[in-house]
Amino acid sequence: MGPPMKNDCFLRACRREPVPHTPVWMMRQAGRYMAEYRKLREKHSMLDLCKTPELALEVTKQPLRLGVDAAILFADILLPIEPMGAPFEFAKGEGPVVHTPIASRAQIDALRVIEPGEGLGYVMDAIRLIKKEIDVPLIGFAGAPFTLASYLVEGGKSAHFVKTKRLMYEDPESWNLLMSKLAEVVRRFLHAQIEAGADAVQLFDSWIGQLSPDDYRELVAPHVRHILADVQKAGVPVIHFGTGTATLLELQRDAGGTVIGLDWRTPLAEGWKRVGYNYAVQGNLDPTVLFAPRKVALDRAKRVLDAAEGRPGHVFNLGHGILPETPVETVQAVIDFVHETSASGRA
Ligand code: CP3
Repeated sequence: MGPPMKNDCFLRACRREPVPHTPVWMMRQAGRYMAEYRKLREKHSMLDLCKTPELALEVTKQPLRLGVDAAILFADILLPIEPMGAPFEFAKGEGPVVHTPIASRAQIDALRVIEPGEGLGYVMDAIRLIKKEIDVPLIGFAGAPFTLASYLVEGGKSAHFVKTKRLMYEDPESWNLLMSKLAEVVRRFLHAQIEAGADAVQLFDSWIGQLSPDDYRELVAPHVRHILADVQKAGVPVIHFGTGTATLLELQRDAGGTVIGLDWRTPLAEGWKRVGYNYAVQGNLDPTVLFAPRKVALDRAKRVLDAAEGRPGHVFNLGHGILPETPVETVQAVIDFVHETSASGRA
């Protein structure tokens, strides 16, 4: 057992309960925009930070000084692919590089559907350690099958996802096998994180905006449903995040989740209406707004708050991860502004 939770606004908002102020956290809130993170990275690789629970704890705690209402476990969506049989590294300036990208059925057959204890135990160890040390809710997370498959098949970041889509169109049976294996690993992994103490979980399907609605519905959504229908039974909030989802929101919602992530391309008022007020929403400030003059950034934050109309069920966040060069002062100013503005007028 850890310290008593000082502030459960985030969990209450996820459950669409009234809150004294709109909770705020920032995707990728631990990372290179913070000097203390960069300093730690001089001594340790990204994977060392993820795999050493004491270091993961330290990084997870770093952004809490900004007053965010939730912590997110420091880890990465790609961690499970290593024990599945696809080692990778974070190459400087390039992002993730998978050593042997998937290019054949035999490689898909060889991927192991692991139990989280087989090669990912350090994540659950980190969660147990973090829970002893923090007094805000802790968010666990995993990557969704399409986003993970895109790294496995492309070997890294991609502009057009040609290899991934070629597999999807040429050999749907192998595609579905790959997606099923990833989905089952992710389902088990999220359960293990919740058992270890995560108070909520987020499924990152960052690149689904690349898909047509038909392809998402037929080739991706069933695998997401396999994960979320089951993980939701654990009773903690489940955030389903994607970007570029303006044409997919209803399909994404139907694939699961109790909180739907909205990027900035869809105005929050419109997105929430389409998703339905029986869901909570998270978002949706453009992360590049944090590079604007403070006055402009606060104005854009105000517009997000106004669009939520004080309705229970809004978690303030960016529409995608915070960028490495973001000025911390503006991040701090936005967090304070959201707290102060949303608290005034509420009991
Ligand atoms: O603070 C947090 O949000 C928790 C930690 C976290 C990281 N990655 C740490 C990280 C989370 C939730 C992620 C998710 C993630 N990782 C996603 C989904 C979210 C999104 O932004 O779309 C994706 C697609 C990845 C894969 C990944 N990891 C990429 C593409 C990169 C390189 C690009 C980049 O932003 O650097 C990473 C590396 C990574 N993951 C870093 C961090 C802090 C940078 C590592 C470093 O060089 O110090």
